[in-house]
Amino acid sequence: MAQTISLPGLIDPHVHLRDPGQTHKEDFLTGTSAALAGGFTTVMDMPNNAEPITTLARLEAKIASAESQTVSDIGFHFGTLGDNLDEFEKVIDKVKGLKIYLNVTTGGFIIDKSKLAQIYEAWPAGKPILLHAEDDVSDLVLSTLKQIPKATHMCHVSNRAELELVIKAKDAGLPITCGVTPHHLFLTDKDAERLGGFGMVKPFLKPAMDQKFLWDHLDYIDLIESDHAPHTKSEKQGTPPPFGLPGLETTLALMLTAEAEGKLNRQQLLDRLRNNAARIFNIPPDDTTSVRFEMNEQIISGDNLQTKAGWTPYADKHVVGKVSKVTIRNEVVYEDGQILAKPGSGHIIS
Ligand code: DOR
Ligand code: ZN
Repeated sequence: MAQTISLPGLIDPHVHLRDPGQTHKEDFLTGTSAALAGGFTTVMDMPNNAEPITTLARLEAKIASAESQTVSDIGFHFGTLGDNLDEFEKVIDKVKGLKIYLNVTTGGFIIDKSKLAQIYEAWPAGKPILLHAEDDVSDLVLSTLKQIPKATHMCHVSNRAELELVIKAKDAGLPITCGVTPHHLFLTDKDAERLGGFGMVKPFLKPAMDQKFLWDHLDYIDLIESDHAPHTKSEKQGTPPPFGLPGLETTLALMLTAEAEGKLNRQQLLDRLRNNAARIFNIPPDDTTSVRFEMNEQIISGDNLQTKAGWTPYADKHVVGKVSKVTIRNEVVYEDGQILAKPGSGHIIS
């Protein structure tokens, strides 16, 4: 009999479920199904939809689409290009945070950097500002945060320079947290060469030395966030391929494999896959969720995934096991590859 592990439901505060607008890549049903298959009972969705979520009306349309489809719980981050500051008060009670893109990525949803301070001033304190800020903009981030010290989460820190900025800001007592993706912990620029378009992601996959720096400074990393960013196989084979990798269904197995290799312990894993996200995004404790993980060596495959993407950058990698059962509010919502929850049974959180 394979050994089984019991965990509470995990929280992923950074996913792109593409609904509305690009539901050929993913929708709320397939995206939250992927969450359950990966052991995540709550996800938070990013605003860079085909039509970015920058108004109350677009947010409400998105929430309406989610309400009929989700099988996990879900929250939403709001978006801005600096020209919708009047909307902030209208949406603050409906969202988990504000996402700002300071570097180019999928959809070209990037702000004019001179607007950063104004946006910081306008965002109501209390819910975090999430930044896509790679190392070329670190001085701007640090000076803005010193001037306007509002809770800031640095998404997908990927190299030494970016993590050093976070360490410096944390040591100076600034209200900053950070997340790292599984792909920056388990893939490097060497994998990017092998994967071609299927390894194209922002931030780019980095050299092994940067990856080692992340693992060596795990204490400064608050979250593991998948940045689940599904694109179809044919899109990833195109020129240029869109940035982004699916990740919801592989994160936990990769992290438990790292635990088995002695890279972190169970408490460190749970803090980064659940407890710290609950604290940062103010999610009340809930002991009615659970995940059963079977320790039984698996080879990751792009077949049989819940995500519409239908591929994974970790194909052929050996991991220690797989999620076999998930419960939410004491109901079994996933078991042995089957989604048992009714579409729309997931809760919208804010
Ligand atoms: O690679 C990425 N893909 N990085 C991002 O920041 C956005 C994401 C997407 O939306 O596809
Ligand atoms: Zn992202």
